[in-house]
Amino acid sequence: MDKFIIEGPTPLKGTIPISGSKNAAMPLMAASLLASSPTKLNLIPRLNDIYTFKKVIEETGTSVVFDGGSNSMVLNPANLHNTEAPYELVRRMRASFYMLGALIGNAGEAKVSLPGGCAWGPRPVDLHLKGFEAMGVKIKLGQGYVFASIDNASVEGGEFTLNPSSVGATINLVLGAVKRAKKFVIKNAAKEPDVVLLCRMLVEMGADIEGIGTDTLTIQKVDELKGVEYSNDPDRIEAGTFMIAAAMHPESDVTLTGCRPEQLGKFPESFNKLGVECTIDGSVIRIKSTDNLQPVSVTTKIYPGFPTDLQAQWATLMTQAGGTSMVTDTVYFDRFSYVPELNRLGGNLKVEKNRVTIVGKTQLSGASVMSTDLRASVSLVMAAMVAKGTSEILRVYHLDRGYEQLEEKLNRVGASIKRVPQ
Ligand code: UD1
Repeated sequence: MDKFIIEGPTPLKGTIPISGSKNAAMPLMAASLLASSPTKLNLIPRLNDIYTFKKVIEETGTSVVFDGGSNSMVLNPANLHNTEAPYELVRRMRASFYMLGALIGNAGEAKVSLPGGCAWGPRPVDLHLKGFEAMGVKIKLGQGYVFASIDNASVEGGEFTLNPSSVGATINLVLGAVKRAKKFVIKNAAKEPDVVLLCRMLVEMGADIEGIGTDTLTIQKVDELKGVEYSNDPDRIEAGTFMIAAAMHPESDVTLTGCRPEQLGKFPESFNKLGVECTIDGSVIRIKSTDNLQPVSVTTKIYPGFPTDLQAQWATLMTQAGGTSMVTDTVYFDRFSYVPELNRLGGNLKVEKNRVTIVGKTQLSGASVMSTDLRASVSLVMAAMVAKGTSEILRVYHLDRGYEQLEEKLNRVGASIKRVPQ
């Protein structure tokens, strides 16, 4: 296990290229299992979650060749013979549960481990399972596994309303339906860019999906999908994270390249209230910070609302704003494990139910802190970069799950982050 030693405070100055999206890549990888020929995916980030999902897919007999140098991956399901996703791998990463839809689509059956607990409170999969049942798939639970099967080559389908709207359930149901359900309608479907990208790729493969980008997806069965070459989206959460990191130090001036700013939804609306200079030119976002950062309260919502995956970073930023602000999470109610750690660095944050109140501006100072999950970890790195003195961030394996070359990218623009064995 590694830890980071971070010296601060350091302004960030320079250019950071944005990597491919982790959360969008995995559905595309899962979709390749539905094809009758190989699929080539581009802009796939070198992240531990991607390597874990690669292993989950390889368990089935599918060949996966990942060229990290060019960020491209070729997946060929021609020899798929095993329809199990084991606990050992699924427990490491919840998105492995996409194998349920992918294997139903490919083989008409699946045995997939239930994902189990999560560091940020209950994250059920009930909607995934109820949705498949509504589609006509038989679902049984036993020994910690979901057993899915269908009687014939196809199921009738039907209609299912997601309540609440769920990214993961939408993706799983789309994967399961395109080759198996005569007609299936998903209502209150997630509209996140990850869902849109998956649906577009499936259509290019030959699928029949209507309503892409809206909250009603209508899927009609096709018999065959062909492999395609497809490009992943850049990671909007990585872009948002670096925008926030740049805003944290008054002298920072950071340019982010390879972005899709339109996929940030309402996030720039909140960002523009900070008093920071933010210019967007095509795929380039430039942030020039200010020494008069304004407190801005946010409430997370499903896309295009303020993303829950940026709330920890935002609360961290608010420690540097002159005044009181609140961050409320309506998507996940218990995602504040970073708060005691930020307070150890000198922050003044208080959690009540699903809301954290931040009183700024506080001078942060170096300390030893512990990463608890992916977004919490990056927030601690950001705090440490503006804290006076030396900080130690333990358990950075969380970061390796979701930020490609984080310390290299930040060090290149002025940070002082050393990775050492813990
Ligand atoms: C995905 C993202 C995660 C992000 C989240 C919300 C991936 C790999 N992960 O997670 O980074 O924070 O979207 O944008 O893409 N729910 C149920 N029952 C279910 C499924 C979900 O009640 O069966 C609830 C959840 O508890 C939550 C809400 O629905 O309150 C949204 O969760 P969901 O969109 O499913 O999140 P994930 O797909 O797991």
